[in-house]
Amino acid sequence: MKKEKEIVMSGIRPTGFLHLGNYFGAIQNYVKMQEDYECYFMVADLHSLTTHPDTKELKANVHRVLAENIACGLDPEKVALYCQSHLYQTAELYLYLNMLAYKGELEKTPTFKDKVRQHPDNINAGLLTYPVLMAADILIHRAKYVPVGKDQEQHLEITRTYANRFNHRYEEVFPEPFAFNFNNELVKVPSLDGSGKMSKSENQMATIFLADEDDAIRKKIMKAKTDSGPTLNNSLKPDYIENLFLLMKLVSSSETVKLFEDKFDNCTIRYGDMKKQLAEDMVQFISPIRKRVNDILNDEAYLQKVMKQGAEKAIASAEATMQKVRNAMGLNYF
Ligand code: TRP
Repeated sequence: MKKEKEIVMSGIRPTGFLHLGNYFGAIQNYVKMQEDYECYFMVADLHSLTTHPDTKELKANVHRVLAENIACGLDPEKVALYCQSHLYQTAELYLYLNMLAYKGELEKTPTFKDKVRQHPDNINAGLLTYPVLMAADILIHRAKYVPVGKDQEQHLEITRTYANRFNHRYEEVFPEPFAFNFNNELVKVPSLDGSGKMSKSENQMATIFLADEDDAIRKKIMKAKTDSGPTLNNSLKPDYIENLFLLMKLVSSSETVKLFEDKFDNCTIRYGDMKKQLAEDMVQFISPIRKRVNDILNDEAYLQKVMKQGAEKAIASAEATMQKVRNAMGLNYF
């Protein structure tokens, strides 16, 4: 008998442009998982309404995030790649879970408090119940594994709480979902200004986006901070130099990395040369992805097909769960 695949679910916020950190941190993980798991990857368009009521750019953002994920290797034939708003069953489960979600608990969630600080004029109930909607996204597929970063750990804990509450109050329906990443250690992609990770909201010049043109990539890398080089053989690398090597390890060949490591160790390194090499290797890495993204974005019929096909797979899985949920709750009068 064929062993059933374990279920993986994750949500991607449609916030526009993905960068190298997203690529190595998140998308690569999804791409590896699609081979061995039953995967549901969702564009979290409804979640974005909690903070962005203006929807003028929503469609373009949804298209972009789909195109970028596909261009990076996510295969809509292998996974269910869908939009949250196409899965109406989520709204139903969200409503039921809201009865198991206590206001006091939700108010204590750190992400809620952060958002209250950022959007003091729009503290709506959707924002308060953001974790309930996320729990519904995950539980609707009875997923076991959720590939997310550390910042979502709290939301997963809340999801486990609701799963357990539901199971205790009614019947055992939901497994407990846990964060899961392929590489135990998530790949860190350092920013180009020597501090922190690449991020969309921080310094844009220190972050390489998948949509960056070749010249923009070169310019960003050539601007990265360096110094006049080591003066003692086998010195320790300062953080900002270590970061350049980390980036090089991601996109250059191991021979290239070794060449510059050796030059650093014997104090003959010229950072200008190293950055030029890194820039060219980065361009080689990014430009095919950027071209694929643009091709996909220009083919709206294809994107619609992907969304439709994704929604069909997601609906089949969700409807099976909701039958169990309605039965467990006694909402089965016919
Ligand atoms: N809250 C997640 C984020 O900000 C996005 C998300 C929505 C999600 N629903 C999800 C992630 C379900 C994992 C599972 O990134």
